[in-house]
Amino acid sequence: MSGGPAITLKSQPIDGNNGNSGNAAAQQQQTANNAAAAASSSSSSQASSGTVPPAQEGTRQSSLQRIQLRKQKVFNLPEAQKLAKLSMYSACQFEGCRCTGWKTPQENRHRDVESSYCPEPTEECRNASCRHPLRSHISHLTEISRSSMDELLGAIIDMENLFMSMQRVEDEDTKKVYLYLFRLLRQCVLTRQQAVIRGPLGDPPFESPCITKAVLSLVFYKYSHLNPTELQTMTEVAKTFLNFLNHYNFESPSARRGDPTLTHEDASTYKINYTRWLVFCHVPAFCNSLRQFETSLVFGRTLLRTVFQYMSQQLKKKCISERDRFPEDKRSIITQMPKFLEALRAELLKDDSPIWDSTYRPPNSFVVQQRKRHQEVAPPATIASAGAAAPSGSKRSSVGEPAHKRVKKEVAERVTSENQDDLPIEVVMRAMKSVAESKTSNKSEILFPINVSRDENVKAEEQKRAIEFHVVGNSLTKPVDKQTILWLLGLQLVFAYQLPEMPREYISQLVFDTKHKTLALIKENQPIGGICFRPFPTQGFTEIVFCAVTMAEQVKGYGTHLMNHLKDYSIQRGIKHLLTFADCDAIGYFKKQGFSKDIKLARPVYAGYIKEYDSATLMHCELHPSIVNTQFIAVIRNQSEILKELIAQRHNEVQKVRTGLTCFKEGLPSIPVESIPGLREIGWKPQMRPVRASRPLEESTDPEKLATQFASVLQSVRQHTAAWPFLRPVTAAEVPDYYDHIKYPMDLKTMGERLKKGYYQTRRLFMADMARIFSNCRFYNSPETEYYRCANSLERYFQTKMRELGLWDK
Ligand code: COA
Repeated sequence: MSGGPAITLKSQPIDGNNGNSGNAAAQQQQTANNAAAAASSSSSSQASSGTVPPAQEGTRQSSLQRIQLRKQKVFNLPEAQKLAKLSMYSACQFEGCRCTGWKTPQENRHRDVESSYCPEPTEECRNASCRHPLRSHISHLTEISRSSMDELLGAIIDMENLFMSMQRVEDEDTKKVYLYLFRLLRQCVLTRQQAVIRGPLGDPPFESPCITKAVLSLVFYKYSHLNPTELQTMTEVAKTFLNFLNHYNFESPSARRGDPTLTHEDASTYKINYTRWLVFCHVPAFCNSLRQFETSLVFGRTLLRTVFQYMSQQLKKKCISERDRFPEDKRSIITQMPKFLEALRAELLKDDSPIWDSTYRPPNSFVVQQRKRHQEVAPPATIASAGAAAPSGSKRSSVGEPAHKRVKKEVAERVTSENQDDLPIEVVMRAMKSVAESKTSNKSEILFPINVSRDENVKAEEQKRAIEFHVVGNSLTKPVDKQTILWLLGLQLVFAYQLPEMPREYISQLVFDTKHKTLALIKENQPIGGICFRPFPTQGFTEIVFCAVTMAEQVKGYGTHLMNHLKDYSIQRGIKHLLTFADCDAIGYFKKQGFSKDIKLARPVYAGYIKEYDSATLMHCELHPSIVNTQFIAVIRNQSEILKELIAQRHNEVQKVRTGLTCFKEGLPSIPVESIPGLREIGWKPQMRPVRASRPLEESTDPEKLATQFASVLQSVRQHTAAWPFLRPVTAAEVPDYYDHIKYPMDLKTMGERLKKGYYQTRRLFMADMARIFSNCRFYNSPETEYYRCANSLERYFQTKMRELGLWDK
């Protein structure tokens, strides 16, 4: 299990710490009084029994534990006490009485039904307008099942905790929400109905894509080119972030009133989202009678944008302060966190970021792999705050369903997506690993790279800072530094030499024009190439004016890398099209950079804006916002290596020579296709054949599992007292005429050998050999012989063993 400790903040939960209940007596509302009274007495009993820690600023975890302990204690009470507790929130059944809860008589007010106090069914309600016995408040409850009773009691405890938290919380917005939820639960207990939140808040999920999905997309978008270990680290960083968010205690809207980062509109949106968060995520985490949703699954970009700045600062601080608590092998999560947060921030701000596009989908194989990792690194316990495991049953699943249901659903989802994939993820992972290993193990290639794309060499130079890329330009409003001027002069010369047809003055005019910029490739502080361009942000395109690399540096990959940088630069600024007029010599180069003569932009978008040249061809390149062009070649290269590896693996499977089937020689008329050894390995799937509805028993499709089951049956059969005649082959020396009568001999030793060689790919093959042992025996020997009896007895035993493992047709 990996994933490291979760980083969470101390939250201010509904803490179930009912210490201040004395104030509740001031409440006028009768129901509230009931809650306060019950909460008050329960807390005094807790303190005296010593089962709950003293009142303190509870962490989320200790609050959850406290609540769970209290619930458990109530569930374990004798039924009469449970009913007494229920009576306090149950309407009097006496005709015409409007009392909504039995009140402890004055003399017993200080006593607690959660402790030793068990009122008599005849004790009268203190409520002056009722005065009916306790019995009349519970007469309708005596028949309900134990689980329904516990459910009601759980809701009552949640309600009491909410009431006490409502007393304590100062923020008015939060108080209102607690009151609303308190009333809702109160009503549900009274009417014995499930708590369902309806109303103007809407139903979750509130935005698409949700934060979890966008963060997963970010991992793919930004980091899928990394090697598997680095990708794993970034996945864990993303998971840590989501975990932090899901336990994050959002500030109340009033606390953020003076926040300069929030516009008026943001503030009102935040208020709605804060209320939703309280109602659907925060409170239900402590009150499990309310359906709980995970923050990251129901909220999207809007909420994250409004909290990101402050939240990420806290997360960074937390990373620093908790650094030493992280196991050493997980420290990379801490070190990579700022980088990850920065990338997420950038995508949050961009209006056209693909990760927030609900149609953006990382490839299925990536999603399955991530989901798998997520399951590996995020067992339910790590979702809770670091240090303590969540008390069982205290927390519902993220989507509000019991945990077991969710697991089932996730498995089902995984199965579906795996079925959609043409290859199981394990196979792809194995191929990725093997490619990564072959890269690191081939030392000679690292020193003397052969067959490495030019792009890789250029990127390596860039990484070593042997070359740099800068976007420079002239300005009339701001001072232009000397370095920029020198580079612009140098670039002007590069263009002039490489584009001799262009008048020098024209080149100078455009290079120094303030509307134009130049992406400069600098080596040893000299410009050795560049692309002069003019962005038209309102039109959504960039015009490439000149592009050149000095003669001595051409065909080394610089021209390609320059263009890729320009593409990424444009995408980051929301530009999705590049246009250029290419002369006939340059058409080949532009084609290789993804340009085409087929212009996909409407003419009015660019006509009159870009410079037109008579003898040149207009070319267009559409940019895809999800592609990081400077990484693209590496990603494609890596993918193609993985594909080659997969093909090689499949090739090896196909080439493998297997021992042939002997069953036909031995008289078996036919066998199922799937039992032909090697067929599955080369990709044959049972679904390719229409399913026979009458098939009595579906055996395991896992050959390893089958082999283990056969081994266990064989072992048991060998040890049976009737097995002795069949343990090894009958020899001609022992029984000279045996082989005159028996054409296809079989014995338990031979079966063991066949099993080891993997011959028994199906149940039918295994059963056929075993049946042959018995039929041979009965054919050769007469019924009164010991051998014959042994065959019958062992056959019955064999069938029993097969049945035990579910391998025998009814
Ligand atoms: N016609 C056809 N293909 C060309 C080409 C041309 N004129 N110039 C380069 N290519 C090819 C290269 O052979 C290479 O192909 P490959 O990867 O299949 O081998 C690919 O384009 C890019 O090579 P790369 O090394 O990345 O480019 P570069 O550093 O050589 O720079 C130019 C390319 C065009 C900028 C450079 O050759 C140059 O400055 N040419 C003169 C000026 C010019 O014509 N500019 C273009 C119009 S403004």
